[in-house]
Amino acid sequence: AAIVEHVLHVKDVVVTPLCKEQMIPIVNGSLPGPTINVREGDTLVVHVINKSTYNVTIHWHGVFQLKSVWMDGANMITQCPIQPSNNFTYQFDITGQEGTLLWHAHVVNLRATIHGALIIRPRSGRPYPFPKPYKEVPLIFQQWWDTDVRLLELRPAPVSDAYLINGLAGDSYPCSKNRMFNLKVVQGKTYLLRIINAALNTHLFFKIANHNVTVVAVDAVYTTPYLTDVMILTPGQTIDAILTADQPIGTYYMAIIPYFSAIGVPASPDTKPTRGLIVYEGATSSSSPTKPWMPPANDIPTAHRFSSNITSLVGGPHWTPVPRHVDEKMFITMGLGLDPCPSNAKCVGPLDQRLAGSLNNRTFMIPERISMQEAYFYNITGVYTDDFPDQPPLKFDFTKFEQHPTNSDMEMMFPERKTSVKTIRFNSTVEIVLQNTGILTPESHPMHLHGFNFYVLGYGFGNYDPIRDARKLNLFNPQMHNTVGVPPGGWVVLRFIANNPGIWLFHCHMDAHLPLGIMMAFIVQNGPTRETSLPSPPSNLPQCTRDPTIYDS
Ligand code: C2O
Repeated sequence: AAIVEHVLHVKDVVVTPLCKEQMIPIVNGSLPGPTINVREGDTLVVHVINKSTYNVTIHWHGVFQLKSVWMDGANMITQCPIQPSNNFTYQFDITGQEGTLLWHAHVVNLRATIHGALIIRPRSGRPYPFPKPYKEVPLIFQQWWDTDVRLLELRPAPVSDAYLINGLAGDSYPCSKNRMFNLKVVQGKTYLLRIINAALNTHLFFKIANHNVTVVAVDAVYTTPYLTDVMILTPGQTIDAILTADQPIGTYYMAIIPYFSAIGVPASPDTKPTRGLIVYEGATSSSSPTKPWMPPANDIPTAHRFSSNITSLVGGPHWTPVPRHVDEKMFITMGLGLDPCPSNAKCVGPLDQRLAGSLNNRTFMIPERISMQEAYFYNITGVYTDDFPDQPPLKFDFTKFEQHPTNSDMEMMFPERKTSVKTIRFNSTVEIVLQNTGILTPESHPMHLHGFNFYVLGYGFGNYDPIRDARKLNLFNPQMHNTVGVPPGGWVVLRFIANNPGIWLFHCHMDAHLPLGIMMAFIVQNGPTRETSLPSPPSNLPQCTRDPTIYDS
């Protein structure tokens, strides 16, 4: 195992993915930022030097952070932000996982422009559980607004201006016609695509004209090889897939297009595909590329088929069987409701209300004075309450739930605004039924858990039935994720082992839903030994002095 060291300079830089110049905070002068390559077992040391005008933190999305909760990078959850002209060094081990992940800013919406690939290869001498590819290619999908990132906090979030593949908008936009991602391939060779959906708010379908791919990992967990012509990724999800250049010599488009699952809501206008090219060696430059057929934006069946068909690679590297015994059972409703408009705000919702997201009718409030992890470590009270409910509120009558379109209840209309956590004992197995609801409309919410992978035991539509649906759960080879899309008006059942002490966020990875409060946190208590207890905070942890003139909340 090696020590891998990187320096990330965050700086406001002028970029022009479309015609307009835009000053945005990016890392090392590039959009996306640098790819970080490690091997399983390595120690990663990253010096973040903040020369921008923004407060930042960097989150290592999907990394277990075993015994290193202080390095998780969630603003005001595990640390206070790195202020302009300040530095912080993240240092942690990467153990027990292989594949593609991403790093991104975890302060308001700055991950729109501050993100990059984190690629974890097997330890030296260990093979992939599939034939070695000829080449590896990171593919980072992004969502672009031709505006100041600060304006993206407006509600509802403005429609984006383009999607990008590795920073390039391609020929769907007149302004970037000649700037298109271009992958040169040799006929007969294989390419490991390391695919990342870094878009702020949209699930994306991804297809390559005339080619199938074989999915071999999702969220850095190996899968049973799965042959498919279309993939879908929620924001925050990653896929490793093998492309074989097995078609006649020529040029072929690859394309991403947003998936809008909100039932009864017209797809937003930013639904143009963004394209890249696959160019075979020897292809004549004059031939016009073959186009893929793209699923319609609201193609729920195609999205569901892809998501639910993946299974984990039983017996593969780092595979562990599903724990049969469950210690903590939770049933969590999630969705968007309404909340009375505060007197000083402009609200766009009906009945002079504003949108509020909730989990079990709690709208999560991010603390403002000190990080939750410091409050927990130093026993500072008044920062959060340990009362996140295991069930929706009692007054909430689940039998009143009906199927589509909104399967919800008026009681869900006015959630309680709180910073509540759920405390769990070290090493317990937690099972969560996530039930998607919505006063306005249910849509797929990509729920992301920090610090752990979870088994996804089942997916379904409508209301979860504890007898009928529980019988059908996959306890043999369920897929594992750090981020799962809960089907619109449907449910998922997940299980994880709380083997890592600290505070871990669980939230919707659609960025627009973070300030709406679709978020909660788990506190995993210390285990019996020093080895299984919280480490002390690093001495250089950023201080929680707040400058209200800096954009971060
Ligand atoms: Cu990738 Cu809490 O986020």
